[in-house]
Amino acid sequence: MRTSAITSFLFVCALTLQAEDKIVGGPYVVAPAARSATIGWVVQTGEVKAGARSIPVLRSEKISLTGLKPGETVNYTIPGGLQGSFKAPPAATAAVPYSAVVFGDTRSRHDLHRRIIEAIAKLNPEFVLHTGDLVTDGYDLEQWPRFFDIEGPMLRKTLFFPALGNHERNNARFYEFFDVKSPYYSFDWGTSHFVILNSDLGNVSLSASARDAFWAEQQRWLEDDLAKAKSAEFRFVVMHHPPFTAVKSRQGDAPVVQAMVPLFEKYKVAAVFAGHDHNYQHHLKNGIHYVVTGGGGAPLYPVDGPIPGLTVKVESTEHYVRLLAEPGKVKVEAIALDGRTLETFDIQR
Ligand SMILES: [Fe+2]
Repeated sequence: MRTSAITSFLFVCALTLQAEDKIVGGPYVVAPAARSATIGWVVQTGEVKAGARSIPVLRSEKISLTGLKPGETVNYTIPGGLQGSFKAPPAATAAVPYSAVVFGDTRSRHDLHRRIIEAIAKLNPEFVLHTGDLVTDGYDLEQWPRFFDIEGPMLRKTLFFPALGNHERNNARFYEFFDVKSPYYSFDWGTSHFVILNSDLGNVSLSASARDAFWAEQQRWLEDDLAKAKSAEFRFVVMHHPPFTAVKSRQGDAPVVQAMVPLFEKYKVAAVFAGHDHNYQHHLKNGIHYVVTGGGGAPLYPVDGPIPGLTVKVESTEHYVRLLAEPGKVKVEAIALDGRTLETFDIQR
């Protein structure tokens, strides 16, 4: 798109920072509804000394933007002068091309995480989906500023859709920072429909009956959501735990997630993207692509248990996955940190 064709405006927040405050996260843009988006940033207002540790006191700030025009580029400046930009989602039924990135498991080996982010930022994706395990411990406030520092160059130029991983431990900060009202949600980008699920059942509650109730409600919501999205050209699901894995020691670990497969098949989901296993995996079952993209920095896992008849490609390496959509087709590219193409495949309507 030519620059002249892009509607652009500068959004300057009227808020100011207190003298002792410093921004340690963001800006980033999350949770866009059809015509709105939320610009967020994280402020450190002080620190607590506990033994040898200095624990930051963090405050989450958010601004809602409403009345966005489909596809417009929005430039913004937050208090303190940091700037960012993003492209608003296109009209719901517009069969427009788009580029997106899916990646995950960024919780450790921060040098590699940083290099992955630099590579993704160069691609200028319109939005980024994170398959979860953003940090090692969602309760540890020292880890969030590091996460935001590393992801900053990417977050300032895209829209961000995170899934909840087990390492977030269902902590309130995940919801607060990313303006997540529910750990399962969905959005449309043109004629593609994306569903983000919370597969981390173990951290939902200490109570077994509360976990059962959560899962039943998420299943009910998922079926309803997929049924409403029947006219979408492509339906994609993103969640942390993979239904199928080539990591031998983890096979059979997620029966509840595997039990969702009939629903994915009933509503002709095009692809399911997961993380949790720190490698790249591509399985194909009854026309649905199951991709594991957990190569964002966490220690690599072996791919020692390919599934006969299902596994298409596996490799234990740091990587990210790029989606390039055009009307009728989405091209999926798995790209290693060294720039090598691990695999490409097309999803046809
Ligand atoms: Fe995980």
